[in-house]
Amino acid sequence: MENYHLISDQLNALLTGEKNPITVLANASALVNQTVTNLNWVGFYLYDHEHDELYLGPFQGQVACMHIPLGHGVCGVAAKEVQPQVVPDVTQFPGYISCDAAAKSELVIPLTDKSGELFGVFDLDAPVKDRFDQQLVRTMKEVAQIISKVIDEPA
Ligand code: SME
Repeated sequence: MENYHLISDQLNALLTGEKNPITVLANASALVNQTVTNLNWVGFYLYDHEHDELYLGPFQGQVACMHIPLGHGVCGVAAKEVQPQVVPDVTQFPGYISCDAAAKSELVIPLTDKSGELFGVFDLDAPVKDRFDQQLVRTMKEVAQIISKVIDEPA
């Protein structure tokens, strides 16, 4: 059992009062990457309303695809349905977009503002299958909520 209880506190302490969304996302990806073991990519895609697609935001990991149309790949499905996607085995996800051949499982959590409007997704890839158990998914949803709140209502 991994111990994640400090991530939310650390993230709140790190980000409270920060008003620049890019700064928030950059350090949030770094904190998750240095705290959660066994990940090969952590980062954000942001929603471009005009082109109805996601574009690459701050991340930690290998270079990644830069634009993802809504409904494509795990990120695009999470964004289109505004529903988290837990993928225990990426080879079983229809339309999966491979950026880093090391990725074997994936978690994508949509980010919404206080009106419920999509503004991006939080994407995590792991180099092993079944990485995202219930506890880790719950913790990453908390992380996503903190990030959304800080971006939406900077203190
Ligand atoms: N695998 C993702 C693409 C983004 S990378 O994982 C960084 C997808 O299928 O949407």
